[in-house]
Amino acid sequence: MASLFTPLTIRGLTIKNRITVSPMCMYSSRDGFVNDWHLVHLGSRAVGGAGLIITEATAVSPEGRITPDDLGIWSDEHLPGLKRITSFLAEHGAVAGIQLAHAGRKASTYTSWKGSGVVPEVEGGWQTVAPSAVPFHAGQPEPAALDQAGIDKVIADFRVATLRALAAGFQVVELHAAHGYLLHEFLSPLSNARTDSYGGSFENRCRLLLQIVDVTRAEWPAEYPLFVRISATDWTEGGWTTEDSIALARLLKERGVDLIDCSTGGNVPTAAIPVGPGYQVEFAERVRKEADILTGAVGIITTAQQAESIVASGQADLVLLAREMLRDPNFPLHAAQELGVDVEWPVQYARAKRHK
Ligand SMILES: Cc1cc2nc3c(=O)[nH]c(=O)nc-3n(C[C@H](O)[C@H](O)[C@H](O)COP(=O)(O)O)c2cc1C
Repeated sequence: MASLFTPLTIRGLTIKNRITVSPMCMYSSRDGFVNDWHLVHLGSRAVGGAGLIITEATAVSPEGRITPDDLGIWSDEHLPGLKRITSFLAEHGAVAGIQLAHAGRKASTYTSWKGSGVVPEVEGGWQTVAPSAVPFHAGQPEPAALDQAGIDKVIADFRVATLRALAAGFQVVELHAAHGYLLHEFLSPLSNARTDSYGGSFENRCRLLLQIVDVTRAEWPAEYPLFVRISATDWTEGGWTTEDSIALARLLKERGVDLIDCSTGGNVPTAAIPVGPGYQVEFAERVRKEADILTGAVGIITTAQQAESIVASGQADLVLLAREMLRDPNFPLHAAQELGVDVEWPVQYARAKRHK
């Protein structure tokens, strides 16, 4: 049996294989609602055999959206559409995960195929918020530095979003603390210049994420896993480091986080990132070994053999695939064939399992 197709049990939840659909914004929502696109997009990947499917960054508040077209979960009205998706995924053997997110200073931007840069308020944009009034790109409008009431609201928004995620039928919550969005902005000294208890020392910069983990874990059932996606390095002198990530992962583990999804970068536009096959796997491996916690590896994982070797060699417990899953929604079914593992195909597709 290939390692990639060995089930993974975390707490009371078993995921049938190690292949996860990485969160991918579809920028196809209006007012945060799912529609047929999301059902077909996520549903196809369940039919294609993925063990865990994590939704795109799903905003905990309207101002936490990257673009006006992001998915959201800031109202009970969002739940019936999401529930339809989680039910379909479960019916086809995939675990449904949701990535809860707040875009911070990188919010209120255009969807790439509609424009570039910041959406002005007259066109439906909004005032962004951040730890400090420093824009992502020099010359962009300044984000408003969050005051204590603003921070309390962010924490409350994540708490209520967690309750809604449960009501919508999700079984994994992933907190998005990567890619230069709000929680990463607090972690990194490159975006956090605060002088209060949320800035300065490592402990202070981690405070908001840890407070959000505490309220999330308190509401999220003990039998369901909680993941955190981090950017394991800013790839920039003076920024967040791999050592910081390991220290953070230890704190997260103490608070009941089950898995660290190890991405990198995204907090400064000038970072030089050595992108190539599996370029972020080393971070998943170090965090796994040095913080003794489950990890997910992501970033240019595109073949069955590569995915298998990451799991088999103990570099990570899960592999997350993004663009390869867009190219081939049936990647898990194809990977099983390549690795000689007999997995179930949807009965409707059984006649296509063999070439004859
Ligand atoms: C279309 C698209 C949308 C993405 N949206 C998100 C997102 O919502 N949240 C997130 O954490 N990462 C997002 N990412 C990053 C992916 O999850 C993944 O980390 C990255 O693409 C590297 O993996 P890959 O080489 O398999 O594509 C997105 C990537 C793509 C291609």
